[in-house]
Parts: sequence; structure tokens; C-alpha cells
Amino acid sequence: MLTKRKLHALFWVALLILGLGVALTQGDEEIDPYKEAERQRELFRQTSGGILPGELYAAEGEELFTRKRGPKNASLEACDFGLGPGKLEGAYTRMPRYFADTRKVEDLESRVVSCMVRLQGFKPEEVGRDEVKALVAYVASKSSEMPLQVVPKHPNEITLYNLGKELWYRRAGSRDMNCSICHDTYAGGRVRLSPVRSPRQGLSNEWPAYRFEADKLYTLEDRIAFCYESVGVHPPDFYSEPMIALSVYMLTEATKGKHKFTELPGFTR
Ligand code: HEC
Repeated sequence: MLTKRKLHALFWVALLILGLGVALTQGDEEIDPYKEAERQRELFRQTSGGILPGELYAAEGEELFTRKRGPKNASLEACDFGLGPGKLEGAYTRMPRYFADTRKVEDLESRVVSCMVRLQGFKPEEVGRDEVKALVAYVASKSSEMPLQVVPKHPNEITLYNLGKELWYRRAGSRDMNCSICHDTYAGGRVRLSPVRSPRQGLSNEWPAYRFEADKLYTLEDRIAFCYESVGVHPPDFYSEPMIALSVYMLTEATKGKHKFTELPGFTR
């Protein structure tokens, strides 16, 4: 069995060899980040017998999903992600959405938590972030490369869309920044050398993803938190209403732009 650690060791050796090659052939030429991600992805594939790190997280998630756990000794197979209990195929393409059982709009991450609480009997504070991430990777993998279908209809969904839009434009922090300044103003261009996209250009359609620069799996909420931190603003808590609202806003706009998910879990910088 190829463990994550072995995979990483192989990867760094390959990276070193390739890195030397790049240094010799390219000089100071700027590397295209998308091509670079593609190159790293192929490198992983070649050095790991075809397995990408994101797939290892998803496998971990599948194991957590089907195993009986928690005070109620239950699996998560009865968890309804909107298409019926245990129906995972394409479920993520319609999330966040309103759930009648919790009377809340939930994204995939908060839905995993509420199912662990209701079905398995965990207390919310007992639910570990790493297990949520693995479970998210597994459930999202069942919507890989499918078209996004987030269309707010329920009044609570519309409320959250509006809140998300407001947060998108709300200036905060000592630098008086908002999401729009980077993602709309520079859409299609670059911010600090990184290419940025607007929501209509499909922003947020590659998460959860393995970020090779961080060597970690990031969910959409992790990625939102990262952008807040990068401008020195304290991010909203995980699973909180502002987090879910921003996801509703971005994924609705990406749906309007007729985007698909990338391969999920994604593989990115
Ligand atoms: C200072 C500029 C800046 C601000 C402000 C900013 N971002 Fe970002 N954002 C970036 C950059 C740069 C990236 C990385 C693009 C890459 O590496 O592909 C990024 C990436 C992202 C991504 C993932 C990229 C993708 O293509 O899916 C999401 C989602 C995102 N930002 C959401 C937000 C949200 C929500 C806010 C407001 C809370 C925000 N960003 C504020 C610069 C910014």
C-alpha cells in the first residue's frame, strides 16, 4: 500500500531532479502557474503508480463514511446530501442548499458535521476538522467534472445568496480590501503573480483540492479563510453563516457562467 508519506518522499526526489532540469533550461523565465500545476500533477502520477494525493484523502473519507462510529455506532450511509439518504452521485453540484431536517442552508462541510451529530451522536465540538475534510473529499469526488447547479430558490437560500454578495463587496481590515477588488477588478489577470478569476469565470469550482505548495487538502472554506488571512482580516469560523453565504454566492455565479467542477478532489497550487 502506497502511504501518503512514501508518496511525498517520492515526489520530493522527483521534484528535485526536475527542478534542476528547469533551472538549467529555463533560466529566469516566468513559469505559467496552470502549466506548472499540470506538470506537478503528472509528476505525482508518474511517481506514485497513478494515484494522486487527493484520491488518498477521498479513500480515507470513504472509510470514515461507511464505518460505524460515534455514540450511536452508526455509519454515515443514511446521510442525505439533498438527493436522498446515501445518494452521493452529483449531490455536491447542488450544494449549498436548504435542508428541512436542520432548517438551515448547509454547504457540504457543514452538512457532514450535522450528519455526524444527528446520525452518529457526536457533539459538534468533537468533530475533527481532518475527518470533515476527508469526508468532503469523498462526497465531492462523486461530482467530479459535473456541471454546477447551484440555483437559490428556497427563501433561506436567497437570503444567504444576498448575504454572500454583500460580504463579497464588504470592505474590511486595515487595507480596506474586499473580495471583489482582487477577483473582479483583476479577473483574468494577476495579483502578486497569481492568476485570479471572478465568480462568473468559475471561481471555486476546483475545491476540495490538494494544494501541492502547502502539501495539504484544502476545502472551499479553507480557501476562503486563506484569502481573508492574506489581507490581514480574521476569517469567519468554519461552518458559520458567512462562510456558507460566500459559497452560495460564488457557486451560484459559477453556475450562471455555465462552469463544471474540475476533477474532484482538485489538484492545484
Ligand atoms: C489581495 C487579493 C485578494 C483578495 C482580497 C481576495 N482574494 Fe481570493 N484569491 C487571490 C489570489 C491571488 C488567489 C489565488 C489564485 C491561484 O493561485 O490560482 C485567490 C484564490 C481564491 C479562491 C480559489 C481560486 C479558484 O480559482 O477557485 C477562492 C475561492 C477565493 N480566492 C475567494 C475569495 C473570497 C471569498 C474573498 C473575499 C473574502 C477573496 N478571495 C479575497 C487574491 C485575493
